[in-house]
Amino acid sequence: MKSYKVGIVGLGWVAGAHLRTFAALPYYEPVAVMSRRKLDPEEIRREYGVNVTVYNDYDRFLAHKGLEIVDICTPHPFHPDATVKAANAGKHLIVEKPLSLTFEDSKRMLEAVKKNKVKTSVGFWIRLMSVTKAMKSIIDKGLIGDIYYAECDYFHGIGPWYGQFEWNIKKDMGGSSLLTAGCHSLDIMLYLLSEPVEEVFSYSTKNPNPVYAPYEYDTTSITLLKFVKKGLLGKVASVTDCMQPYVFNMNVIGSDGSIDNERFYSKKIDGLLDWSTLDVMRVDSGDVARHSYNEQFLHFAECLDTGKEAINSLEAAYETHRVIFAADRSAETGKPVRISEFS
Ligand SMILES: NC(=O)c1ccc[n+]([C@@H]2O[C@H](COP(=O)([O-])OP(=O)(O)OC[C@H]3O[C@@H](n4cnc5c(N)ncnc54)[C@H](O)[C@@H]3O)[C@@H](O)[C@H]2O)c1
Repeated sequence: MKSYKVGIVGLGWVAGAHLRTFAALPYYEPVAVMSRRKLDPEEIRREYGVNVTVYNDYDRFLAHKGLEIVDICTPHPFHPDATVKAANAGKHLIVEKPLSLTFEDSKRMLEAVKKNKVKTSVGFWIRLMSVTKAMKSIIDKGLIGDIYYAECDYFHGIGPWYGQFEWNIKKDMGGSSLLTAGCHSLDIMLYLLSEPVEEVFSYSTKNPNPVYAPYEYDTTSITLLKFVKKGLLGKVASVTDCMQPYVFNMNVIGSDGSIDNERFYSKKIDGLLDWSTLDVMRVDSGDVARHSYNEQFLHFAECLDTGKEAINSLEAAYETHRVIFAADRSAETGKPVRISEFS
């Protein structure tokens, strides 16, 4: 595989984990960092083991000689403009989730990426986890039969102990519980089921614990999904204000069996007395040091080499975001919302 020159925008928590992953893979060469702060390249070299040029101007950063991939790691509202500009400059893109805080912004990101025919990888790394691969494979082989229900839930308290708390508490920065983090659960449900959603209904609330009081929006939501496929329903809970260890839940129920994360049962397999446990890596931490960026970036390098679209492409993420925007509108209006309102 070829080695790709990559530049990072916004050197914060997630960007550090990306940079460490790039440095460890032979398929990437980090060459530039774009920051609003004055950063010392020597300090970056000491911390991450990479030689980069630091820019404070995005146009100059994009003009860095040989730059092929732009990796956008700034807070949510800054993703759209940076993406559109990089796509128009012909750069391939890694974009952190969520894509944007509005449907219109997600749409213009998709348009720019399509117009410029650049390749994309959105931070939905859970699609690349081994537990997800095993679940998808079991579903696609028909081992649990005809699926009629799924639950995917995100429980992770994003309190003051997280660096992003400072900006994430603001409505115009964090957006909503689903946008800021629960999007992982919604995304994985859509990926596992591979079925379009027709309508959603959502309620939202927040933890009364004063530690979460600074949030300007409801930090817990529950969304019910009705799919176009007759009889198929889903539920996504996004609880970003809990007081418990991290839990990521994926549970898919079919006519002949179920998968509950790494636990599998099927009437199609003879001799099973109880749940069987799959030897896979679970999604079990909110710490970016334990996220599978390795898998995400290996997959992206392979896509760039072969011209394939990534399974976590911006186009795929756009479909997830249409459902998120519909769910958030439902929570605001108290009415069910059809996904066709976002097209
Ligand atoms: N894929 C995942 O699982 C995952 C995990 C964590 C974070 N993220 C996403 O990565 C992005 C960055 O999150 P983070 O936790 O690294 O945040 P962070 O606050 O640690 O880093 C943000 C970086 O952006 C820079 N920045 C530029 N303009 C800014 C502004 N106006 N306000 C604040 N910072 C500004 C900051 O200087 C900082 O270097 C977010 O969109 C977040 O949702 C994704």
